[in-house]
Amino acid sequence: MRSIFHAAAAVFLLHFFLTVTFSVGIRTIGGGDGSGPGFGFSEAPDYRNGVECPVSVNKEVVSSCDPDLVHVAMTLDSEYLRGSIAAVHSVLRHASCPENVFFHFIAAEFDPASPRVLSKLVRSTFPSLNFKIYIFREDAVINLISSSIRQALENPLNYARNYLGDILDLCVDRVIYLDSDLVVVDDIHKLWNTALTNSRVIGAPEYCHANFTKYFTDGFWSDPVLSRVFHSRRPCYFNTGVMVMDLVRWREGNYRKRIENWMEIQRKRRIYELGSLPPFLLVFAGNVEAIDHKWNQHGLGGDNVRGSCRSLHTGPVSLLHWSGKGKPWVRLDARNPCPLDHLWKPYDLYKGSSIKDRSSFPSSIFLGFSSFLS
Ligand SMILES: *[C@@H]1O[C@H](CO)[C@@H](O)[C@H](O)[C@H]1NC(C)=O
Repeated sequence: MRSIFHAAAAVFLLHFFLTVTFSVGIRTIGGGDGSGPGFGFSEAPDYRNGVECPVSVNKEVVSSCDPDLVHVAMTLDSEYLRGSIAAVHSVLRHASCPENVFFHFIAAEFDPASPRVLSKLVRSTFPSLNFKIYIFREDAVINLISSSIRQALENPLNYARNYLGDILDLCVDRVIYLDSDLVVVDDIHKLWNTALTNSRVIGAPEYCHANFTKYFTDGFWSDPVLSRVFHSRRPCYFNTGVMVMDLVRWREGNYRKRIENWMEIQRKRRIYELGSLPPFLLVFAGNVEAIDHKWNQHGLGGDNVRGSCRSLHTGPVSLLHWSGKGKPWVRLDARNPCPLDHLWKPYDLYKGSSIKDRSSFPSSIFLGFSSFLS
């Protein structure tokens, strides 16, 4: 998870949440004009629909309300930009109908790269992509994030997945949420067509052998009122980096508010240590549609011990997820990759990442993206 948050931005935020009334304010920005420079990323190949794809998608103006679309939501920020671009590339490369995939990008209001610049970048990298960029107003969550969670202020964009029901058009009734540190190596339409049975709101791979107790504090488990939330369920851990979400049920059940209620409790008394994950567990664990584990081969970032590499879980692979501390682009650039990091590389569109290019630039250029974008 991202934890860096610029101090200057924090001052801005404080100013905002003191002067602006609470709301999930969203403005949208169109696709850009495609005339911008490369921004350090190569243009992706043009992935086109096969003959078997639904044809009702209007080539001129693709509205996010088109019923044949597969909706994917991701965050887009300068820190994880390279990962997000690779993730989009991977989805398109393996989709049976890539032109029918619509991306909803959530950008932070105070990102060093403005949403307008991010929009131009996406357009220049994927000229025919259907997408929309939404601006996530951090003040919607900043006062809900418990300061006790971490020393460094957590990136509010980690909480954007909780607001998809409010952010996306009402006509979008289902969405696949994807983290930025993953690649999809199978047809996204298969994940999209997962049935959410018994009125379930979200679907995700479940891990029932994980020790669920450790995600919450002793104070939580010893409080009979709080821990009663799990009495009628058999909760299992799931990772919120890959979720199929029924937005109609989400909005009807006011799940955004249910998650916020737990965040309010966390702010008053510490009931968990992690950031955006535990409130999802509190609301959904035991009630998620168990999707095949191949759709989230997680943990490839390694554990927080330096230099540790993870291997794949047994079974087939449709999605590789570098959750955990290490990121494949960082390790590849440092020429110290884990074996599985080489599976991420074919999706990387960052121009500076090849040895050839790197030798001709000072290394400082590759430390951050903001210098390209500002
Ligand atoms: C699960 O974790 C809790 C808290 O860390 C620990 O007390 C308990 O023994 C663990 N249970 C198992 C079965 O490992």
